Amino acid sequence: MAVAQPWTPSSWRALHALQQPEWPDPAAVDAVRERLRQLPPLVFAGEARALRRALGEAVEGRAFLLQAGDCAESFRDVSAVAIRERLKVLLQMSAVLTYGATLPVVKVGRIAGQFTKPRSALTERLGGVELPSFRGHAVHSDERTPEARVPDPERMVQAYYQAVSTLNLLRAFTKGGFADLTQVHTWNQEFVASSLEGRRYEVIANEIGRALRFMQAIGIDLGDERTIHEVDVWTSHEALLLDYEEPLVRRDSTTGDWYACSAHFLWAGERTRQPDGAHVEFLTGVENPVGVKIGPDATPDELVALCERLNPHRTPGRLTLVTRLGADRVREALPPLLRAVRETGVPVLWACDPMHANTFVTPSGHKTRRFDDVLREIEGFFGAHREVGSWPGGVHLEITGEDVTECLGGSEGVLEEQLDHRYETLCDPRLNVRQSLDLAFRVAEMMRAA
Ligand code: PEP
Ligand code: CO
Repeated sequence: MAVAQPWTPSSWRALHALQQPEWPDPAAVDAVRERLRQLPPLVFAGEARALRRALGEAVEGRAFLLQAGDCAESFRDVSAVAIRERLKVLLQMSAVLTYGATLPVVKVGRIAGQFTKPRSALTERLGGVELPSFRGHAVHSDERTPEARVPDPERMVQAYYQAVSTLNLLRAFTKGGFADLTQVHTWNQEFVASSLEGRRYEVIANEIGRALRFMQAIGIDLGDERTIHEVDVWTSHEALLLDYEEPLVRRDSTTGDWYACSAHFLWAGERTRQPDGAHVEFLTGVENPVGVKIGPDATPDELVALCERLNPHRTPGRLTLVTRLGADRVREALPPLLRAVRETGVPVLWACDPMHANTFVTPSGHKTRRFDDVLREIEGFFGAHREVGSWPGGVHLEITGEDVTECLGGSEGVLEEQLDHRYETLCDPRLNVRQSLDLAFRVAEMMRAA
């Protein structure tokens, strides 16, 4: 073990960082980093602390984390409508979970910064041509030519500005009336309203409306109640592209602590979670709440090392472990991990990502997931926590506000031959609105049982 050097925003550079683009012109990257350093932070330290406190409640079983959004955000999806639709489904799912389980839901979007992707292979075969694998719009274009796939550091600046405009709209929607609980009906999209999930949602929306009118009737003044009129939707993305993250680290003027100011919550992915690796080193020094994805090959010892590295002061809400073990393996693989972490005494929020270990490619070449596998992994996650006596604290999902056909199944079953209809994802298949709502109802039932 090397002698520990003091942490700085650039101390990760002493280590070999995996999954970084091969920038053709390093001087251009330096110039972009300098520009990013001059730009204002996207989020503030106080906000990151508020999220950490909210996640701390979830650690104790008094709240539930709903973290969801795109696998990879697109530079093309900047319209107000697109952002509103992504928010709507998150609000709807949250209403279903909160109402169904009578527990606060901490809402964290994979939004306003999810522009990079780790890849298992250096190249991918698309339409008969071999191309460098797509690594996200912060790195290069998704167009299918070798030229388009050359990493361009200017895109990090574009990622910053796109995150700014997304976050700006998100703040307006969540604080300016759209997310007001009295608007609970309007979050149901027209094309969803007539579906099974849409009708089920309407029932809950009606109940929430009645509960609000009841409170008003007995003299509770809801006019000033912030929690009814505003919501907190926090931002998150994978802290993968360290040339982008480093210049956005800022020192909080009130505490002197370092914060990653590109998003409220950052996580290390399954491919970059080595306890002594560059990405974990980067996350150790920022005070934000952070997460780590945990795949089926992770060992109890690795988890213990991650807990000690990332939450040495044992702060509840600081560390979320997001397991993505696969529907077939979760029930057996998870309990030993839960027990090993419990032994450390480090408080951890456990969340279930039922997406990433259940992906497969159809004969037609579509990367997809079965709704039933997604559901099975969450059931296994709840079952493992029941066995060990720990709290299944949240879910981490890839969803969209659109009527896409990327995942198979659900109540109005997307069939394999229908995947072509609206297959729009830049990377992994997302649950569409109906599948997302359906899932929320099922998870609410599991929470009640837990
Ligand atoms: C992702 O969340 O999109 C992802 C790549 O996940 P993982 O690191 O778990 O594979
Ligand atoms: Co993904």
